[in-house]
Amino acid sequence: MSLLINATPLSFTNLNKVCPYFTMFPISFPFEELRERGKIGDWVIDPFCGRGTTNFAARLLGMPSMGMDSNPVAVAIAKAKLACAEPNQVVELAKTILDTAKEPTFIPTGDFWELVYHKNTLTRLCQLRETLINDCSSSTSVLLRAIILGALHGPRPKGTPSYFSNQSPRTYAPKPNYAVKYWMSHGMRPNEVDVISIIKSRADRYLSKPLPDVKSKIELGDSRVADSFRDMPKARFVITSPPYFGMKTYLPDQWLRLWFLGGPDYVEYRQSEKQLKHSSAAIFAAEMGSVWKNMAARTSQEALMIIRYGGIHDRAAEPMDILNQSLVDSGWRMESLRKVPDSVSWRRQAQQFLRKPRKAIKEFDVFCYRD
Ligand SMILES: C[S@@+](CC[C@H](N)C(=O)[O-])C[C@H]1O[C@@H](n2cnc3c(N)ncnc32)[C@H](O)[C@@H]1O
Repeated sequence: MSLLINATPLSFTNLNKVCPYFTMFPISFPFEELRERGKIGDWVIDPFCGRGTTNFAARLLGMPSMGMDSNPVAVAIAKAKLACAEPNQVVELAKTILDTAKEPTFIPTGDFWELVYHKNTLTRLCQLRETLINDCSSSTSVLLRAIILGALHGPRPKGTPSYFSNQSPRTYAPKPNYAVKYWMSHGMRPNEVDVISIIKSRADRYLSKPLPDVKSKIELGDSRVADSFRDMPKARFVITSPPYFGMKTYLPDQWLRLWFLGGPDYVEYRQSEKQLKHSSAAIFAAEMGSVWKNMAARTSQEALMIIRYGGIHDRAAEPMDILNQSLVDSGWRMESLRKVPDSVSWRRQAQQFLRKPRKAIKEFDVFCYRD
């Protein structure tokens, strides 16, 4: 039975949609688990927090939380999930930046940049970018930044635009060469859009409902590092979803959002040192294991850790073998396993990949207790 009588309803989840992210899990998963088992004030950790779904669920339930991710895009979105501001404060901040900003010090050039944004839109985006890179310390600026990240690329509607870009995917960034060919062959030139109107309609949508202000911390960092999370009280829950073995394109797939956060104006294909290494299943399992060990050191003895894990069915690297291996000598024992229904898994994957994966994605929720 739930101990959280006054939990904020799950219908208050507009803010959770502020910006899509790769392989995010549905909010109902951490929300239902925490509502069923937790109480107000219990600390929650997600060491692979992505866009902060677990942290947002904890917020709705009045539980303080901590999240870490080594991808700056994930961290910028997750921070916004825990911030508080009124829609008009976000819009006023955007207007002030654009009214007072000087010419940007740098505007990227080349075919891609000429075709992805209208030149006036690109100038405004560069002004917002440079100001927010310089200072993004207030809750209002954190929310403005996440709203811009969510609007940076997406489809061009027939009616009022809700993205700044020429026709693009919304979850992952357009691949420059492919996108240029596509726009040229379809005669698609970018329209000038009203940057403030797009920000306003998004701020009204995502910030329409008041949310509890709950203690929380999101950090950009590497969860394999032993002293991660050392400054927080012992947590009662870990709810997380590590990268699936072989899915290693989190950074290149988000390159345009990374650019907005201060990254280069081109795709960097090399793997970041701060992401788990996918060189072999055994190495990957050992890397995940170091994170579970850190979680054991940062949780209370009665803590529960729920890991959603899966992958493409492949005998050479069966996901549950990798996960079992990662739990050996980690301070955790697996108590039970539950298959995520195909309908839930499929809907999630379809939203992200926009096409049917060739092989089925199998996912499990693995429940672990401290040794
Ligand atoms: C499956 S996603 C998590 C998605 C998240 N559950 C959500 O709903 O958005 C896995 C995340 O692990 C992050 N990651 C990979 N290696 C990491 C590391 N060493 N430390 C922290 N985060 C890491 C990736 O950047 C990615 O955001």
